[in-house]
Amino acid sequence: MKKSTIVERILANSPRQVKERGAAFAPANIALCKYWGKRDEELNLPVTSSLSMSLGHLGAHTELTVCDAAGDEMWLNGEPVDEGSAFYRRAAAYLDLFRGDLHFCLRTESTIPVAAGLASSASGYAALALALNDLFGWKLERRDLSILARLGSGSASRSVYEGFVEWHAGVQEDGMDSYADRLDVEWPELRIGLLELSLAEKPISSREAMQRTVATSPLYREWPEKVAADLAAIRDGLAAHDMEAVGRAAESNAVFMHATMRTSVPPVDYRLPVTLETIAAVERARADGLRVYFTMDAGPNVKLLFLDGDREAIQARFPALRIVE
Ligand code: DP6
Repeated sequence: MKKSTIVERILANSPRQVKERGAAFAPANIALCKYWGKRDEELNLPVTSSLSMSLGHLGAHTELTVCDAAGDEMWLNGEPVDEGSAFYRRAAAYLDLFRGDLHFCLRTESTIPVAAGLASSASGYAALALALNDLFGWKLERRDLSILARLGSGSASRSVYEGFVEWHAGVQEDGMDSYADRLDVEWPELRIGLLELSLAEKPISSREAMQRTVATSPLYREWPEKVAADLAAIRDGLAAHDMEAVGRAAESNAVFMHATMRTSVPPVDYRLPVTLETIAAVERARADGLRVYFTMDAGPNVKLLFLDGDREAIQARFPALRIVE
């Protein structure tokens, strides 16, 4: 099924009143239970559900205007984006779904530290879907906006909400049941800290690594069952404010995801020596009685999970840690 078919369905009953300007902010998110593997590449439909925590004010501020130029014009953090770049081509292809005969000026300011190794596509496509909704006056429900954001990048489906968010995998071929919802949980003491360990470019994109894993890793067969168990543990742990339960399940989920990549053919290993040293340091901190856990995405950087009451002790052990408020 084509993305354009889904867009037509979602916008079937929406007005289209083009304003001068559409603008939106969407936060970045860190998955506690990961999205890894698609059942449909075109629609970014996942094999499993996933669960994340949004990062407050860290994310993308996006502004869209209709412009007279011969093509789209884009700026990222004040710098013009080259038409030949992957960023431009991917964003223009996404805008094709909505443009009719219009061209857009797209300005995105990212408040995510550039080197933090956070997927900027999640906040980027969520902010773009929200900005389009504003520009065209569609007044869509969050679930529909989550689906539109997913068509840009899977993890963007979760970035249309603050707080703790679950993206339901869904079972339908058209993915109309594959959207995110906000969980009814407040836990302001839970902290995420970012450790930027390497600025080097990734050896392989997460999109490609995901495909290779699904196609070739024998361990991937175990992934849906692993996710089901981790999701349940994380959901219960969040509801009970149980740091140990959430931390253990999130850490184990990330380790398993990396194991599926490392057993792909050829293998994908994003970890660097400094990644392994950091993981060992987390284990030492825990052996010394600190409740701190790690998670990792498709890259060498490490994110720490802990409670605000332990922040000083944890910051002292990891001086480079950037704590997200
Ligand atoms: C490891 O959402 O970037 O961060 O759907 O191909 O755009 P596409 O992939 P993307 O993958 C994110 C994978 C992850 C885990 C997660 O965020 O759940």
